[in-house]
Amino acid sequence: MGEDARTRWDQAAQHWGRHAERIDEEAEPVTDWLLAAIAPGPGETVVELGAGPGGVGLRAARAVTPGGHVLITDIAPEMVDIARRRAQDLELSTVSFEVADAMALPLPDAGIGAVVCRFALQAMSDPACALREMLRVLRPGGRLAFAVWAGAGANPGTAAAMAAIHEAAGEPPATARPAIFSLADEAILASLLDDTGFTDVRLEHVTGERRYETFEQWWELRLRLPPGAQETWESLNPQTREGIERGLRERVAAYRRDDALVFGWDALVACARRPPR
Ligand SMILES: C[S@@+](CC[C@H](N)C(=O)[O-])C[C@H]1O[C@@H](n2cnc3c(N)ncnc32)[C@H](O)[C@@H]1O
Repeated sequence: MGEDARTRWDQAAQHWGRHAERIDEEAEPVTDWLLAAIAPGPGETVVELGAGPGGVGLRAARAVTPGGHVLITDIAPEMVDIARRRAQDLELSTVSFEVADAMALPLPDAGIGAVVCRFALQAMSDPACALREMLRVLRPGGRLAFAVWAGAGANPGTAAAMAAIHEAAGEPPATARPAIFSLADEAILASLLDDTGFTDVRLEHVTGERRYETFEQWWELRLRLPPGAQETWESLNPQTREGIERGLRERVAAYRRDDALVFGWDALVACARRPPR
């Protein structure tokens, strides 16, 4: 399973690299919330899991100086390379990088001050296992903050694109719990954190808007960023693609505003602590 995820995300990584600045800009309110929740300070060790291009860890890097350290990790080596290049461009010296499966972290017990994870937990095959690993590596009293996507209804752009891609693949529609919305239930998420052994659990929503000049700009991103979507799409014959794209164009026309497509988004953000000894 790990190998499969690594290969699929490696294939999507070049697009994440190309659009990293835009992705970080759109997710800025989420990153602000996550960093405020863990409040990294000088001398601390912070780990980012499922970091992709590393947008959260790179921002935390300056907060831990002097004496601290940020470790940026992802299961996909290509993603880790992108994060490393971005850190070099920013001339950050307090950051290191490691290819790591969040469900089997290559880290000792109880050594980390804070763990952060933006929009990656829902992409993991066993989120409960990843949470157990996060608890294990945190020192007593250490902080966790992560973000997942709220439900399909509150994320209409992503939901419409997912539905089209699932339709293309002849699979159930996006409402049938695609992975991207699989952790959207607050009550389930809260009990998952409680059951894992976290304390001081807090869940909130952070919302915003994404704006695209054209349908094509939006659709290209929605096809290229999720692993496997582009391959599914390209495996279809041109007539089928055309029909699905026409339907999608009509469906999202309702989100046209001031000559742009504007989609609201909604993230479920959570923070918690490993209980102090
Ligand atoms: C939706 S992307 C989010 C990337 C980044 N955190 C961001 O917010 O821009 C999900 C990331 O999770 C990573 N990922 C998926 N399964 C993983 C696992 N088991 N362990 C670590 N990373 C994983 C993928 O490689 C990908 O980079």
